[in-house]
Amino acid sequence: MGDKVYFFDTTLRDGEQSPGASMNTAEKLRIATQLETLGVDIIEAGFPAASEGDFDAVKQIADNMEKSIVCGLARALPNDIKICAEAIKGAKHPRIHTFVSTSDIHLEHQMQKSQGEVLEIARESVKLAKSFCNDVEFSAMDASRTDPDYLCRVFEAAIDAGAGTINIPDTVGYAIPEEFSQLVKHIIKNTPNIDKAIISVHCHNDLGLATANTLAAINAGARQAEVTINGIGERAGNTSLEEVVMSLTTRPNFFPLTTNINTKNIYSISRLVSMITGIIVQPNKAIVGANAFAHEAGIHQDGILKNPMTYEIMRPETIGLNTNKLVLGKHSGRHALKSHLLDMGYNLSDEELNIVFKQFKALADKKKNLLDEDIEAIVTEGILRTTDVFRLEYLHVTSGTTVSPTANVGLSINERPVEGTDSGNGPIDAAFNCIAKLTRTQSDLLRFSVSALTGGTDAQGEVTVRLREKGLTTLGRGADADIIIASAKAYINGLNRLDYLKAHPVKYKV
Ligand code: KIV
Ligand code: ZN
Repeated sequence: MGDKVYFFDTTLRDGEQSPGASMNTAEKLRIATQLETLGVDIIEAGFPAASEGDFDAVKQIADNMEKSIVCGLARALPNDIKICAEAIKGAKHPRIHTFVSTSDIHLEHQMQKSQGEVLEIARESVKLAKSFCNDVEFSAMDASRTDPDYLCRVFEAAIDAGAGTINIPDTVGYAIPEEFSQLVKHIIKNTPNIDKAIISVHCHNDLGLATANTLAAINAGARQAEVTINGIGERAGNTSLEEVVMSLTTRPNFFPLTTNINTKNIYSISRLVSMITGIIVQPNKAIVGANAFAHEAGIHQDGILKNPMTYEIMRPETIGLNTNKLVLGKHSGRHALKSHLLDMGYNLSDEELNIVFKQFKALADKKKNLLDEDIEAIVTEGILRTTDVFRLEYLHVTSGTTVSPTANVGLSINERPVEGTDSGNGPIDAAFNCIAKLTRTQSDLLRFSVSALTGGTDAQGEVTVRLREKGLTTLGRGADADIIIASAKAYINGLNRLDYLKAHPVKYKV
């Protein structure tokens, strides 16, 4: 077992399974590019058999990555494996990741198969995957609730059939660190051909133990960590990349191990994923939360001023957090903006820079000092959301103590202009009613929240909505110095996402 820990990022697959977090192909490609810059070893780009959208996204990512291995997920079914092989075949470094459940609970209640049958399915699936692709990973789903001796026999068969990585998922987030570490040691000791494979772990966070379990497994000999940015994922999420990376980096004596991750890119990708998915990072989230480096207590502030090491175990710069927050203003030129965007992790084309620069100037006329958060909001709305069907052209509202709130809205729908007027019990309600009528949509607004992107009364408001229509749920996000416009942008962003989901039905999610 070597001293390098490989990072396998599944933000685009398990992460996308967070409720409402669906991403389109362009958004996924943008994240994949940043994951490669971050130094992620393996990018799990999606589950190609799940939908045409997933297939396309995996293919695009496979065709475009240079260094990272691009992996597609496939159930242990011949058709899934063939579709996956097709999607990743253009990659410089392709991988097929196939999986089957191994716990008694799953075998009895979900699959109605015997242990012997499942063992053969695992062997045959890896063999088939191997006929298409040299790099094959095998996962025993619900491994942490599987009989450990049976698990060793399944892994032995998978390695025998050609799997170079065997993954131990804690699918339901049930494991406890000490016990999970014992399981890894048991597998190392009792799987005869284990030296031919890398041991991987994939933890879910149902008990808040995903990072602890992953680190315990690494300590026991696992050398691949399956993670997501900001810990997003199914239910309570997956192990978060930033927590594992910074634990290894901050405690090198405890973990004498190396990684390929360039920690300086952690903050920018955290923001990017949050902006694209609409999933807000909780303020007290380790490493990337807004308060992760904020010191409130007087005694702490005093210590930090004397020497940051008194109360800070890692420097914000290590994760690429810009502590010198004041950035650009009305007089800043294109060049300054371009170079600041590069520092923030956005390498924009000339055409993209033109769009951002125009919006930057418009905002700088309203707001004196533009901070990173303001610039990020412009990039997200101007560049990252590329395939919009519905676009806001203008919005006028009337409201007050003695008038009935009304909104007059102009949209373009697939580049065709439409306009209308409607009323509501407040200006936002009036704007939403009008937008719903113009777009002929009937979504339910499940959640609506507003926060300020930065401090000050001239701060941009950031609005997040959660919408549901015909069983599909999505998030929408918008920012503007005027919170009614921000609300309309968030609502329209949500409608665009719903439109994408309707056009790309998902057949199956893991
Ligand atoms: O949680 C899980 O078991 C998975 C597998 C597909 C690896 O996501
Ligand atoms: Zn999972």
